[in-house]
Amino acid sequence: MKVIITKNYDEMSKVAAWEVAKLIKEKPDCILGLATGSTPEGMYSNLVLMNRVGQIDFSKVTSFNLDEYRGLKGDHPQSYRYFMDNKLFNHVNINKNNTFVPSGVAEDIQKECIEYDERIRNAGGIDLQVLGIGGNGHIGFNEPDSFLHMGTHLTPLTKETIEANARFFENEDEVPKEAITMGLGSIMKARKILLLANGKKKASIISKLVDGKIDTEIPASILQVHNNVIVVVDEDAAAELNLNITTNVEIVK
Ligand code: GLP
Repeated sequence: MKVIITKNYDEMSKVAAWEVAKLIKEKPDCILGLATGSTPEGMYSNLVLMNRVGQIDFSKVTSFNLDEYRGLKGDHPQSYRYFMDNKLFNHVNINKNNTFVPSGVAEDIQKECIEYDERIRNAGGIDLQVLGIGGNGHIGFNEPDSFLHMGTHLTPLTKETIEANARFFENEDEVPKEAITMGLGSIMKARKILLLANGKKKASIISKLVDGKIDTEIPASILQVHNNVIVVVDEDAAAELNLNITTNVEIVK
């Protein structure tokens, strides 16, 4: 695991965008795994700019998003499909038919989950998976539990996650109580993983992710056994890292 500490959110977003851009230049028909949340917004803005000035071309890129709220249609402003359209897809030259987000309103959820994993497999697997991290260690919507899920699945959201995400909704009651998410198996199969975190609120979970024990109650800790992970954090999110025992840390100033 390589940890890059940047001085602030803007630098974190630029470093992350460069990682994605580098892949698109090397492999124009790459498969991206994408994430929502406030953390990657700056990265998406940078990618939009790079596309606008002709530095990167999304025309052959395929993307798979991590998750979607159960019950929200793609035109709901808090759905993750809506987020992706508005933050990235509507502003770059990606073919929307090649952008996939699990359907939150599929009648047969089991089928939707199986087909989502099949689609990823048939596309050749994910080259680069972008991740944020929940304060409780969730990635996608893989919540703390006594066991881990391999494939895409329907999951109840924890009280902590519902509270954390209530800021995007009118009130807490409006937050869906379930979501469809790629499983940790799907995430771990990605050839490279890029996890972003910023702000003091993420400092504790970032130190657990990097230095803590691997524990199903901290789903992101499983990333310690993946052989190609880059964690990009700002100084606030890096505040609790023990730099003496954390190996492979690069500080970008
Ligand atoms: C959500 C998403 C995650 C995201 C996390 C953190 O619940 N399902 O993919 O990483 O919250 O969000 P934020 O970046 O807003 O802190």
